[in-house]
Amino acid sequence: MTDTRTAITIRRPDDWHVHLRDGAMLEAVARFTARQFARAIVMPNLSPPVTSAASAAAYRDRIIAALPEGTDFTPLMTCYLTDDADAEDIASGHTAGIFTAAKLYPANATTNSAHGVTDVAHIMPVLERMQAIGMPLLVHGEVTDGNIDIFDREAVFIDRILGPLIRDLPDLKIVFEHITTKQAVQFVDSAGPNIAATITPHHLHINRNAMFTGGIRPHAYCLPVAKRELHRLALRKAATSGSARYFLGTDSAPHEIHAKESACGCAGIFNAPYALESYAAVFEEEGALDRLEGFASVHGPEFYGLPLNDTMVSLERRDNPVPDDIESAGSTLVPFHAGSALNWQIVQS
Ligand code: NCD
Ligand code: ZN
Ligand code: ZN
Repeated sequence: MTDTRTAITIRRPDDWHVHLRDGAMLEAVARFTARQFARAIVMPNLSPPVTSAASAAAYRDRIIAALPEGTDFTPLMTCYLTDDADAEDIASGHTAGIFTAAKLYPANATTNSAHGVTDVAHIMPVLERMQAIGMPLLVHGEVTDGNIDIFDREAVFIDRILGPLIRDLPDLKIVFEHITTKQAVQFVDSAGPNIAATITPHHLHINRNAMFTGGIRPHAYCLPVAKRELHRLALRKAATSGSARYFLGTDSAPHEIHAKESACGCAGIFNAPYALESYAAVFEEEGALDRLEGFASVHGPEFYGLPLNDTMVSLERRDNPVPDDIESAGSTLVPFHAGSALNWQIVQS
């Protein structure tokens, strides 16, 4: 059935997974996220990473300073876990309202993860403490074993790491970030209510063919890498199912155009400028526009135990062309959907 509505209004959404970077790139990208979202879970994979409450508080101040004065946006900070993470600093940072969550990057899994965790056994005391205080663990779920095919690294991570982890720490709140496979959907569906997942717009729109359409397409490359069509369809079903265990996390991960268009291009898709419109297209195609608000604005805060936003945002049905690139504060960035058009547009209230 075709949806004939010309406008939809939903509670203002939040982004539960974003890379805002630092320095000049932060200046270039922060406002795109703040324009679309009320709050965002800000990833800590800076160089050097955000590993202490003091560095997170300083980073939060830099984010706020990068936005026009009076912008209504709350960055929610995360702690980058390392092998020698300090349970006391993390727990007290959470209690003090500086750390909303902590992030597990398997060492060398993705951008700026060289200081990540080499073995979950090393951080067990931290995870036990997080479980005790109800602090969520956010997980980049890929094994880093070079012998495992890159398209299998998420599924193998579930078997080797995540499955055992939820058996050992059954009450730990875990967000399985940027899921890309039907195995991840099955895992989340069969786990308890303390396990949730974020889903990006790009993994809902593209499968792995997008990286090779007529040549190599660096702007479609991110980690975890897009998978086969059957996985994309499983993600679309999960996101639009109405299940409270799935929520919006863009994983907007900007890199300068020259770092993407390179012999060794960086992983990451910059989707912040059109994120909500991109999700709306998927929900419309799936006949599920009525479920967009749950996914974008309700399931996330409920999982994190935070209040829902009380302001609203409207999307209007109109042609919304996406430029080939965006110049911002001295950076050139290629947005997701570059050169094509979306059919919804946010109207600012
Ligand atoms: C992210 C980045 O560039 O920081 N890249 C990506 O492809 N998603 C890192 C991450 O989220 O894994
Ligand atoms: Zn990641
Ligand atoms: Zn990410």
